[in-house]
Amino acid sequence: MTSQPWWRRGVVYQVYPRSFADGDGDGVGDLRGLRDRLEHLVWLGVDAVWLSPIYPSPMVDFGYDITDHTAVDPLFGTLADFDALVAEAHRLGVRVLLDLIPNHTSSRHPWFVEARASRASGKRDWYLWRDPALDGGPPNNWRSVFGGPAWTLDEPTGQFYYHAYLPEQPDLNWREPRVREAMLDVLRFWLDRGVDGFRVDALRHLLKDPEWRDNPPNPAFRPGMPPYDALLPVRSADGEDVLEPIAAIRRVLLEHGDPVEERPLIGELYVPIERLVRYYGRDGRGVQLPSNMHLIATPWESEAIAALVERYEAALPAHGWPNWVLGNHDRSRIASRVGPAQARVAAMLLLTLRGTPTLYYGDELGMRDVPIPAEHVQDPYERNLPGIGVGRDPERTPMPWDAAPNAGFCPPGACPWLPIGEDNAQRDVAAQRRDPRSMLALHRRLLAMRRRSEALAGGGYRTVAAGAGVLVYLREGPGEQVLVALNLTSAPGTARLSGRVRLSTRLDREGERVVGELRLRADEGVVLEAGAAR
Ligand code: NOJ
Repeated sequence: MTSQPWWRRGVVYQVYPRSFADGDGDGVGDLRGLRDRLEHLVWLGVDAVWLSPIYPSPMVDFGYDITDHTAVDPLFGTLADFDALVAEAHRLGVRVLLDLIPNHTSSRHPWFVEARASRASGKRDWYLWRDPALDGGPPNNWRSVFGGPAWTLDEPTGQFYYHAYLPEQPDLNWREPRVREAMLDVLRFWLDRGVDGFRVDALRHLLKDPEWRDNPPNPAFRPGMPPYDALLPVRSADGEDVLEPIAAIRRVLLEHGDPVEERPLIGELYVPIERLVRYYGRDGRGVQLPSNMHLIATPWESEAIAALVERYEAALPAHGWPNWVLGNHDRSRIASRVGPAQARVAAMLLLTLRGTPTLYYGDELGMRDVPIPAEHVQDPYERNLPGIGVGRDPERTPMPWDAAPNAGFCPPGACPWLPIGEDNAQRDVAAQRRDPRSMLALHRRLLAMRRRSEALAGGGYRTVAAGAGVLVYLREGPGEQVLVALNLTSAPGTARLSGRVRLSTRLDREGERVVGELRLRADEGVVLEAGAAR
């Protein structure tokens, strides 16, 4: 067991650096702020921190539009601050993962500026240029994830360039060997600075159909859905050949001082399960952790969740290690999706399923989405498509640390870049640390329990029952059987089982013996040692 890489047993904690802790008083979180708050991660008991992008950027997409992949944006600090952060994190036993954005750059990146300068530019082929269609319009029907066509005409040179996201985020041409080498050098740069792995952004977009064929219509499209969903992006993304550049990235990790695979790749992937598992690669040469986002969209019902887990488990290749995500900076927070009471059950689910969990900052506090008035919207996605609920600012608001003004996120005189939100301000870390039954306390207990348990950290999974709103599953490791019973409703429920309670989401019934039938209160989850009461 102990010879397994850390990321199989470990828990990844995602930090959105703008919103975690402001160390320099400008209302925006930064690396110094994060370093000063690393103790929270240690106290909580997570193994690694993944940082959303920290690189120089015009911030049109808040750092996912990069102008220099091997530097730190002054807003977040300096490379020296980054080195200090990594050193301190490592001293405390926390690994540091970076967001790698290989699919696109900022339109202000020197590469794109050069590529755009003329059709004869030496870097023209670093991006994706096409002539207009016969009618003068875009070369095909592909759409941008953020709304509108995925092609923008560059008038001076008379060609369109492709962007899966904003026009300010032109896609790189991964079929061009020099692009590939340049991006692999970026990896080497950060590996040399001690980075412990990467979350790879927009992975399914890396290669597009070389014949640029149209995407077909999506028969499931309904009015009110984001316009991107009107087409099935089968030609523009998730192609069969995408595993080849991924293998090249993986090779760099292997060759660059990581033969034992302690530095994982987490692939950002929104694809159906059957497509998702492809990203482990044949013989495991893909990414170690293709992000499993399916809990985010699955109806919050026992049968649906059981069916999802079963389907995922069954689809995994022999070498594939599972992983689970409940929330991130692109999706409404779990406590808003299922409500504060169910969010406790959701935490127990996330931290007791088989596989590596990713925990989004603030979810351990039960943070909720903060409504942002239209005139203060920052997210370009929401600005492009107002009123259909795609905005991502609500789940990106500042972390509340204590009862000080601005919840201790930034100094009293500063103005946080997004509002803290009254509800979230009441859920600050300091107050929850004092309360032994808080959401934060629950997370800490779950994490500690998981760490100590072979069954939970590495054991097998089997669904026991999934009816009447209660999901029961068994986790089994050497000499240990753990039952998890989750009441996914706000009415009392029961489960037929025996055991001794290890932990309730209400943190008030440890040690209780259960014989034959477990009574669950509304919105309660319980972890038990199976059979202990028999
Ligand atoms: C996925 C990231 O998570 C999201 O925040 C970003 O806008 C797009 N990729 C584009 O990089």
